[in-house]
Amino acid sequence: METFLRHRIFEVLSGLAAGKGVKVYVIGGWVRDLFLKRESKDIDIVVAGSGIEMAEAMHEALGLKRKLQVFKNFGTAMLHYQDWQVEFVGARKESYRHGSRKPIVEDGSLEDDLKRRDFTINAMAISLNKEDFGTLIDPFGGQKDLVKKLVRTPLDPDVTYSDDPLRMMRAVRFSTQLDFQIHKPSFEAIRRNAGRLGIVSMERIMDEFNKILLADKPGRGLLMLQEAGLLGVFFPELEALSGVEVKHGKAHKDNFIHTLKVLDNVSDRSDNLWLRWAALLHDIAKPASKRYEEANGWTFHGHEYLGYKMVGPIFRKLKLPMNEKMKFVQKMVLLHLRPIVLSQSIVTDSAVRRLLFEAGDDIDDLMLLCEADITSGNPEKVKRYLNNFELVRQKLEEIEEKDRLRNWQPPVTGEDIMEYFGLKPCREVGVIKTAIREAILDGHIPNQRQEALERMKEEGKKMGLTPKP
Ligand code: CTP
Repeated sequence: METFLRHRIFEVLSGLAAGKGVKVYVIGGWVRDLFLKRESKDIDIVVAGSGIEMAEAMHEALGLKRKLQVFKNFGTAMLHYQDWQVEFVGARKESYRHGSRKPIVEDGSLEDDLKRRDFTINAMAISLNKEDFGTLIDPFGGQKDLVKKLVRTPLDPDVTYSDDPLRMMRAVRFSTQLDFQIHKPSFEAIRRNAGRLGIVSMERIMDEFNKILLADKPGRGLLMLQEAGLLGVFFPELEALSGVEVKHGKAHKDNFIHTLKVLDNVSDRSDNLWLRWAALLHDIAKPASKRYEEANGWTFHGHEYLGYKMVGPIFRKLKLPMNEKMKFVQKMVLLHLRPIVLSQSIVTDSAVRRLLFEAGDDIDDLMLLCEADITSGNPEKVKRYLNNFELVRQKLEEIEEKDRLRNWQPPVTGEDIMEYFGLKPCREVGVIKTAIREAILDGHIPNQRQEALERMKEEGKKMGLTPKP
């Protein structure tokens, strides 16, 4: 272990602490990750004394240019050294409330500090003091739990979770990221206390939720959130996908389980958080569009359009970014059935052209989502679908090669039209533009300037426009 501690930060700190006669420890996530062999550049230091004073001394000793960030209310300070981020805090008697607005004042011993932390695997410290440098302090069996792959609270879980209800999300997050189990009494406590998550800010909940989504196998984490009763507290629309209805002996599939499979399939092939969001939301409107028809059984007509409409309000409520990321998810949800439709019928060039035009540069992500959407248990069916998709891919490539419709720019612009007919911006300009675009997408004219200009003249003539003299 000492090789890891042979870092300049720890050496300087150890020397300073000895000089001041105070004790210092590295604690929390960095220690956990050291044992898990996960590299971390985030170091938390606990000082049995003033964290801020120690941070100031370190800042000076390292000769850092970048300012020290001091949070007086919380008794913490943070410095940046190369690409390391080091946070200093005095040992606390009360709960460690990360991100809470409530200042914490009462000083405590190292043990007090450790026991008010979230999980045993995060409640270990390593001494940086000269007399026992490198010694592990692990009063709650964090080491053992790392071996047993267990997420367990140091205190009675009801106490730990009521100190900070976000920890219920963190339990699921660590369990998903690390492929650990949540200790049974802890899981039961989460089920009892799930409703208390309602007092936590959505931003903090989403930080944890997105970490779950970015795990290797996020589906398991989402299932845990649902089983623990947490999901319904902040994301009832997703929870509503769960369940199966039967009518006249006909059942539809459980859309929650299906969604989790699609999410895992996408996650096997892409790290893109927003594509994972698209997987999560692709069928979000199925409950709202569900009908039973005598002739066809269960149908979900229009769920892609209704789902597309739901994305914005969901993003707003979950405090997710309302920018191009949201638009990307909207687009994926809206278009997610299109390649399937293409693969089932005889594909016309014009249908392929339209898809390329609408999906633009996101076409590859869309194809990936569609392939991930095939979750049938019947291998024959899966094979058939994938083969059909392969044909769609080939067709997409062929047409793109020929027509260059990805990121399409009109070969004749509004300016060109106004200039030719001597117009100011008006309805006619829009009509001509649309007519040219449609002619290209339908394959009546090639995607070329010369032919587009000809079409512009014809369309203008039809509306009684004459060229500028
Ligand atoms: N902690 C806690 N309760 C919280 C948040 C954090 O007890 N609600 C403690 C844990 O000891 C944790 C440490 O504060 O290890 C640092 O928290 P944080 O940086 O959020 O998490 P890490 O454990 O470092 O994990 P990661 O870097 O993966 O977020």
